[in-house]
Amino acid sequence: MEITRTATITFLKENEGVSAEIQQLIEAAENARNRAYAPYSEFKVGSAILTDDGQVFEGNNQENAAYPSGLCAERVVLFNWGANHSKTKVLHLAISVEALGKLQPSKDIVSPCGSCLQVMSEVENRQETPINIYISTGTGIYFAKGVEQFLPFPFSTKL
Ligand code: THU
Repeated sequence: MEITRTATITFLKENEGVSAEIQQLIEAAENARNRAYAPYSEFKVGSAILTDDGQVFEGNNQENAAYPSGLCAERVVLFNWGANHSKTKVLHLAISVEALGKLQPSKDIVSPCGSCLQVMSEVENRQETPINIYISTGTGIYFAKGVEQFLPFPFSTKL
C-alpha cells in the first residue's frame, strides 16, 4: 500500500496577481524582518499574518547566545496570535528572508522549518481553515494554499 500526496507551490514572478492587501502584508513582513534579532546567524526572517477581522500582526526571528533558546519568525507571530487573538482566524501568512552572512539558503525557495510547519498545521486545525502562505524572495513570491503543501503528513491527535 502507498499513501501519496502531491504538493503545489506557485511562483508569482514580480508579485504578479497579488492583491493590494497581500502586497501590504508582504511589506509588513519585510519591515518586521528589519527588526529581527539575529546577530548569530545574520539570517533575518520577518513574518506577518492577516486575520479574518482585518488585523495584521508581525513577528521576526529572535536568537539567543544559547542557540536553541531562540525562536523562528513564524512561531513568534503565531504564538502571539495564540496568546492574544486566537478567537480570530489566521487567513494569510507572509514571510520575508534576508541572508546577510555566511548562512545562505541552499535552494531558491526557502521553506519554513519543520517545527514552524507543525505549529501552522495546529493553527489550521484549531480554526478549521487553511492558511495561505506567501514567501517573498525579492524577485517574486512562492505561494502555497495551506500548510499541507509543505507538510503533507503533520502530527495530529484527536482531543
Ligand atoms: N528561521 C526562521 O525564523 N524561520 C524559518 O522557517 C527557518 C529559520 C531563523 C532561525 C534562526 O534565527 C535563523 O533563521 C537561522 O536558522
